[in-house]
Amino acid sequence: MKTVVSGIRSTGNLHLGNYYGALRNFIRMQHENRCFFFIADYHSLTTHPNPKDLYPNVKNVLTEYLAAGLDPEVSTIFIQSDVPEVTELYLMLNMHAYLGELSKTVSFKEKARKQPENVNAGLLTYPTLMAADILLHNPDEVPVGKDQEQHLEMTRRFARRFNNFYGVEYFKEPVAYSDGTQMIKVPGLDGSGKMGKSEGNCIYLIDDAKTIQKKVMRALTDQGPTEPNSVKPDYIENLFTIMQIVSAPETVAFFDEKWNTCEIRYGDMKKQLAADIIEAVNPIRERILEINANPAILHKAVTLGKEKARESAGKTIREVREIMGFRNF
Ligand code: TRP
Repeated sequence: MKTVVSGIRSTGNLHLGNYYGALRNFIRMQHENRCFFFIADYHSLTTHPNPKDLYPNVKNVLTEYLAAGLDPEVSTIFIQSDVPEVTELYLMLNMHAYLGELSKTVSFKEKARKQPENVNAGLLTYPTLMAADILLHNPDEVPVGKDQEQHLEMTRRFARRFNNFYGVEYFKEPVAYSDGTQMIKVPGLDGSGKMGKSEGNCIYLIDDAKTIQKKVMRALTDQGPTEPNSVKPDYIENLFTIMQIVSAPETVAFFDEKWNTCEIRYGDMKKQLAADIIEAVNPIRERILEINANPAILHKAVTLGKEKARESAGKTIREVREIMGFRNF
């Protein structure tokens, strides 16, 4: 059985893109691996969030992940700041992380450009904290998106460097998680390639039926094709792609046929699409509301996660201290 570690950003509500992209993979992989999933609240400090937002952000993300099906009994789900061992490993790894490589990181350069008034050391050492998150549980694989590949590469380098420096074979060099399935990319409702928070083209898991209907009905369409079997423009193709994700194959085939014969009625297609999205999202939404009404569910999940994560983390810290030469008096 493989060990898998992944961090989750502690901001924003989850949308269909998150759900069908990363989250459904997490839900699937938790049954086949020893999984650690945590909410990266320490990492959020690099951009100086308002203290008032910290708790609600973490709570929101945790609620939505649990509601969608991450199971605290099956995998280890925890809050990064509940496991202080990570800060110690971060400190230790920082002794072997160099200014040159850290300042060359793409994410650092980007953030430094975006917030020139706040280029703090935490931002510079973001990759070391991420490496500490990962190496703390010595995993085989880490599910990461494209934008995190460089960080994972640095994690491997830090692991290798630690092993070489201390003459041990302690840390594994974790690779990107892959189970052979393609990551599903959900397009936007506005004809753009990707559903994303900053693009403002999202359907959120917390959206109610009315909101979803409104968003889908507003999606860009046109007069319809005039030539049989024509190529679909991007904004129409996108609606079909979302339909392929949420609807039955017969439904997609039905509207595809209507497109090909120039008989498509976008109003009907959108109604069907909205209904199918609502059916997919509604159970999650209901579960979110249920968790909101029962704070004990979160308390129990977080307490269990913390306990399991600290057990694994404590073992690593003891061993790393030993390797580095720390001794008890
Ligand atoms: N940096 C990741 C992101 O922005 C979140 C993250 C923090 C993470 N620590 C991690 C991901 C460890 C995987 C493993 O999405």
